[in-house]
Amino acid sequence: MAITDRALEGRVALVTGGSRGIGRAICVALARRGAKVVINYASREDAARETAELVTAAGGTAALSAFDVGASDAVTEAVKAIGKDHGGLDILVNNAGVAINGLLLRYKDEQWARTLQVNLGGAFHCSRAAASMLLRAKEHGRIVNITSVVGESGNGGQVAYAASKAGMIGLTQSLAKELSSRGVTANAVSPGFIDTDMTAEHLPEAARAKLIEQIPLARIGLADDVAHAVAFLAGPEAAYITGQVLRVNGGLLM
Ligand SMILES: NC(=O)c1ccc[n+]([C@@H]2O[C@H](COP(=O)([O-])OP(=O)(O)OC[C@H]3O[C@@H](n4cnc5c(N)ncnc54)[C@H](OP(=O)(O)O)[C@@H]3O)[C@@H](O)[C@H]2O)c1
Repeated sequence: MAITDRALEGRVALVTGGSRGIGRAICVALARRGAKVVINYASREDAARETAELVTAAGGTAALSAFDVGASDAVTEAVKAIGKDHGGLDILVNNAGVAINGLLLRYKDEQWARTLQVNLGGAFHCSRAAASMLLRAKEHGRIVNITSVVGESGNGGQVAYAASKAGMIGLTQSLAKELSSRGVTANAVSPGFIDTDMTAEHLPEAARAKLIEQIPLARIGLADDVAHAVAFLAGPEAAYITGQVLRVNGGLLM
């Protein structure tokens, strides 16, 4: 089979948290391969519109869909509407996430619940809502979940975040087993530290320099580094890869 750069032409992709950061880069990378990209966001419509412009400039088609991935009913309704508007859904990228950091002794029940609800619950809600459409897409059907290096290594000050990301790996492997009979794949991409609003908030300059010392490739990652891995897993080249965790971390964890 010849695989072209525009291998996602005619495919419909939903990227949660596509308004900023890694999600935005994923939307653009899928658009470069020709996909129709539905950009989900929670509240930043301005940022989502900027992503839509970038998607169009990259050669894809863009649509916006605002919903909280943590809200089960809203997800079900929105994903159904996306399928109706675009004639189905082939690719789901569960990228939306929050990092509510804090040390264990002071960590509140509400912080724990919200982190799990958005990061792990969001991936579950969206996957369940999309599953029947993905199964109809058969061997084109893809789920890519964005987990994190800390889901595999743990991290002080990130108990809930790390637990939610570790949970996403189990979710991915189970989805891979459940959906495999029709050729649908489910994989996770596990980024290390990537330059986005999320890390800017939590990584002061001194901590950043110390972190770079621990990364064999000696730099913080770019959103595009992650997006390229997602665009690969979403495409026909990755048809025989399922239930895997692809690490994009500069060698931070091997
Ligand atoms: N940055 C890193 O170093 C790093 C490393 C490993 C894994 N990750 C993971 O990669 C993913 C993206 O991270 P990022 O750094 O790009 O984050 P970011 O810059 O903070 O962007 C977060 C995105 O998620 C959306 N979002 C947040 N809560 C949502 C909700 N309840 N429903 C729908 N959308 C929601 C935001 O929408 P609005 O714009 O509307 O707020 C935004 O588009 C996350 O899952 C994160 O855990 C990041």
